[in-house]
Amino acid sequence: MNTRFIASQVIDQVTDGRSLSDILEVALLKVKDSRDRAFIQAICYGVCRFYSRLDVILSHLLKKPMLAKDSDVHALILVGLYQLTEMRVPEHAAVSETVNATEKLKKPWARGFVNAILREYLRRQEEIKGLIKDEMEAEYAHPAWWIKSAKAAWPAQWQSILEANNAHPPFAIRVNHQHLSREDYLNRLNADAVSAIVIPETKEGLILESAMPAMELPGFASGDVFVQDGAAQLAVDLLELRPELSVLDACAAPGGKLTHILEREPNLSVIAIEKDGTRLRSIKENLTRLQLKAECICHDVFDTDKWWDGKAFDRILLDAPCSASGVIRRHPDIKLLRQATDIKALAETQLEMLAALWPLLKPGGLLLYATCSFFPEENTQVIKRFFAAYTDAAEEKIQADWGLACEVGRQILPGMHHMDGFYYARIRKAISVQ
Ligand SMILES: C[S@@+](CC[C@H](N)C(=O)[O-])C[C@H]1O[C@@H](n2cnc3c(N)ncnc32)[C@H](O)[C@@H]1O
Repeated sequence: MNTRFIASQVIDQVTDGRSLSDILEVALLKVKDSRDRAFIQAICYGVCRFYSRLDVILSHLLKKPMLAKDSDVHALILVGLYQLTEMRVPEHAAVSETVNATEKLKKPWARGFVNAILREYLRRQEEIKGLIKDEMEAEYAHPAWWIKSAKAAWPAQWQSILEANNAHPPFAIRVNHQHLSREDYLNRLNADAVSAIVIPETKEGLILESAMPAMELPGFASGDVFVQDGAAQLAVDLLELRPELSVLDACAAPGGKLTHILEREPNLSVIAIEKDGTRLRSIKENLTRLQLKAECICHDVFDTDKWWDGKAFDRILLDAPCSASGVIRRHPDIKLLRQATDIKALAETQLEMLAALWPLLKPGGLLLYATCSFFPEENTQVIKRFFAAYTDAAEEKIQADWGLACEVGRQILPGMHHMDGFYYARIRKAISVQ
């Protein structure tokens, strides 16, 4: 078992466009020792988090760029550099174990090459720190287009956004108030010597001092808690729920907001749509664990003629597919997987989704638009374009003590209130069109 080799294979696949969490889940199946699993996970997340910086460092150590066909060797070198720059692994172990991992690559030249690069780094580390100081991609550990876009979108906050993206996320949970109060759960945690603090902007949120596997949370199996960031917990309060209302959750998996809605109002009639069958199963598992009920439909939300029975809804939650730029600290591979051109395409889909769902909302009904993005193109600009096309749609301002008021809607930037980056806008449908 060579943990560095496994980590490098995961990184290689991520740079080929695959999702880190998906690849890692499969890779860890063969790793029995829990410390090895934790080590591999820490390296994979860390390399993705600091990929741009590590790659700039490597460029100073190479005489000529590496070939695309040697992406496996490239990934292994980044695994080595990550240990040397960010981890407290002793230098000799980091170098020798990473060099040993080359045996698995079946490229005999790689052993000497990886060894030479890592030793050269150790020899020249002070000089290299100086060389990369003024290179933005290294300093902020983001690809250049992310830095440019964050700067353009949030001229006063871009640095804090990028820093928050590189931080470790807090472990936030939501207490199921159908089962017990937040205070009671906090007392239960304290009795188990687990420290936690209240998320004051939320009614049921807590942040634990350290992360733990969800299954080990007291009362997890019986549905006392749900792992969910504080920003995502704000949606439920914006929906103005009442027991007799009908609700559509248009993009529902894995059901974080759906289950929260039902915890607040268990007798609501809720339809949850999700186009991905595997992800739909995760909604059902969460509903079962939390002992809640909703009608779950596996369909593309655009195909309303296939799944909609023609009865309009009082409330629609559109938690739209987005760049996920607000949750980079949880999914650092997003920095590598997304391209600048994705943002425009996502904004078009978001606008089309709003247009497809609008006829399904009752006059007087409320649509809550949400994304976990900090790009105005996917947020304020989508809603403004929507308002320009629909005269029966009007903003209902969010009055809140969290986030920033935008021209339309409200934005939480990554790290603000310890939360993920999130955007919310509320759209009310006119009772009659003038
Ligand atoms: C941001 S996630 C939703 C998170 C969820 N609301 C929660 O709180 O747990 C967006 C979801 O929309 C789904 N989705 C994307 N496009 C869709 C479409 N056209 N129809 C239905 N679901 C879609 C994705 O598979 C994904 O599960």
